[in-house]
Amino acid sequence: MSGGPIIAPSILSADFARLGEEVKAIDAAGADWIHLDVMDGHYVPNITFGPDIIKALRPVTKKFFDTHLMISPVDPYLEAFAKAGCDRLTVHAEAVTHLDRTLQEIGAQGKKAGVAINPATPESVVEYVLDRIDLVLVMSVNPGFGGQSFIPAVVDKIRRVKALIGPRPITIEVDGGITPDTAPLVTKAGASALVAGSAVFHRPPYDRAIAALRGLPAAA
Ligand code: DX5
Ligand code: ZN
Repeated sequence: MSGGPIIAPSILSADFARLGEEVKAIDAAGADWIHLDVMDGHYVPNITFGPDIIKALRPVTKKFFDTHLMISPVDPYLEAFAKAGCDRLTVHAEAVTHLDRTLQEIGAQGKKAGVAINPATPESVVEYVLDRIDLVLVMSVNPGFGGQSFIPAVVDKIRRVKALIGPRPITIEVDGGITPDTAPLVTKAGASALVAGSAVFHRPPYDRAIAALRGLPAAA
């Protein structure tokens, strides 16, 4: 909308007792995508929500459902997330056994596919699946919780992911510890989509928080 990076607020930091209203509020405040953090207490040490909650949120907004699956196994649940109304399913390279097969299955479900890589995972894991994805999610914290500190080593990784992608139409998204201070570091390195939980939901009003992440003046 107003230029700058795509902003994808993570509802992980929303008030879960008022989830529908929170999603409506970030929609009205200018969020581009709604980032949905699905955690299973197995792949990551936290549990959030699954396809039924996503299905319940689907009528609340027309915005793109950017779904970050931190679950293992993931393959048995892809169809349920697709049917729940997710627009993209992003899976962790570290959490699947046959990454290429999983990405093919997401495509077969008619959804966009993304691959997430943890801070300690080399970017080379995405090299041979680039033609199956439209997004690489570079984690700038270890997955599991909101409100963690940004890991600066990922800035260089973003540059390398960008080089690997070359001219392909693939978005680099960054997730974890994104604030108005860290956002410019990752966008300069090549990221064009930013996930932000605390920096939106813990810093109301949401329209100003989102504008600040885009690098726009507070009054925008
Ligand atoms: C962490 C999640 C993130 C998290 C980011 O596992 O994937 O999306 O909500 O939260 P902040 O922006 O607070 O670091
Ligand atoms: Zn996430």
